[in-house]
Amino acid sequence: MGILIQGGTVVSSERSYKADVLIEGESILAVGEWLDPGGHTVVDADGLLVMPGGIDVHTHLDMPFGGTVSADDYTTGTIAAAVGGTTTVIDFALQAKGGTMREAFDVWMAKGVGKACVDWSLHMAVTDLGADEAAGLAEMEAMVAEGIASFKLFMAYPNVLMIDDGLMFKVMQKAAALKALCCIHAENGSAIDVVVAQMIAEGKTEPHYHALSRSTKAEAEATHRSIALAEMAGASVYIVHLSNEDALRELRHAQNRGLKALAETCTQYLVLSLEEQMPGKSWEEAKYVFTPPLREKWNQEALWGALEDGALSVVSTDHCPFRFADQKELGRGDFRKIPNGGPGIENRLQILWHFGVNSGRLTRERFVELSATAPARIFGMEKKGAIAEGMDADVLLWDPHADYTISAATQKMATDYSMFEGWKVKGNARHVFSRGEMVVKDGEWVGAVGRGRFVKRVANAGGFA
Ligand code: URP
Ligand code: ZN
Ligand code: ZN
Ligand code: ZN
Repeated sequence: MGILIQGGTVVSSERSYKADVLIEGESILAVGEWLDPGGHTVVDADGLLVMPGGIDVHTHLDMPFGGTVSADDYTTGTIAAAVGGTTTVIDFALQAKGGTMREAFDVWMAKGVGKACVDWSLHMAVTDLGADEAAGLAEMEAMVAEGIASFKLFMAYPNVLMIDDGLMFKVMQKAAALKALCCIHAENGSAIDVVVAQMIAEGKTEPHYHALSRSTKAEAEATHRSIALAEMAGASVYIVHLSNEDALRELRHAQNRGLKALAETCTQYLVLSLEEQMPGKSWEEAKYVFTPPLREKWNQEALWGALEDGALSVVSTDHCPFRFADQKELGRGDFRKIPNGGPGIENRLQILWHFGVNSGRLTRERFVELSATAPARIFGMEKKGAIAEGMDADVLLWDPHADYTISAATQKMATDYSMFEGWKVKGNARHVFSRGEMVVKDGEWVGAVGRGRFVKRVANAGGFA
């Protein structure tokens, strides 16, 4: 006895077609026209699009940062994801300096197991190889065996997460040998810290100076440097949260040379800007303090263009939520102490659909590619990212005509604000299946807490292998 999703339009990354989808157990058993409903539970998908559940490859749930912890844990964060149409997230385990990757792995598994409500996986952020570097590098191999097929390297946040070029290069060499993907936070943290100190000395302490202290040039420089080091090491790189045209130029330059360089942008950079959200007028702007910061609005056009032509492969959120009332508050009077990050895991598909597909910039097939199919391919999740026989039944029934108003008052995310408060969008998730189970019905979470499963990923050099 299965579930038959009947009468919808299946959208893949390549085409759209009328078909029914038969789910049996946790998997898709068949996709085809006029499948026999005999004995199955029928879900009416008339007028709906049937797409692979979204995959958000960049989130920070239950993450310690700047003296506090991100507001969504694995339960609230993954419920918010699901309600927004996302059925898999990849979060980051952060190795403590002086600690091991295994310790970080154990800490982050404990955060997610029994709490995550949709499927989830981890990248490992490497901050240290320890005194015995050979042992540190061997840990990378152990992590790949655990299903962690990607390593995160920070070129920003000196003394906290940043690593130097030598260490980065060693990790890239090892990653190349393991076919693991290197995910890069590309900003020149050392130069940014000089500017930050100068601003503070001049009394420039408001949130807006966080944005002004982090030049697009600092992002472009680190983008270039990381790609050059990866080329030397033979590694594949994936630049996270690429925010502006200067960095994009470096990415395109590398891609034109045939290098194994990919990148994502995040929802916020596509629709929010320095002049609109961060004019330097009020403390409210702390809501938009994240890294990289918001950029001048004209950069948005370049990012959308890169989503269209393929230079950018993925849209993620970098969901890293902090409450305005008590967490962002920690940085009042000193922007350095504002916890960096914004809430977005719930709104990614709404924003990408409304501003991408409804505006005519993206086809619905490209939407599927950017939100699910490419994330699955690049990050080695072989059972996810497509509606096809044998795949996990992570299925999103999307209503392209639904009107929805985004608001903190109704969101599932644990923050007391929304970055998109009051925005009216057309297009929203109606029902969501996660491994064959309807977990969102008519827009509401109906699944069990803790049902999400850890996804062991395959190292495939970001799809280049
Ligand atoms: O502001 C942000 N993005 N916080 C999360 C950490 C990071 O750099 O991705
Ligand atoms: Zn980052
Ligand atoms: Zn360059
Ligand atoms: Zn991040």
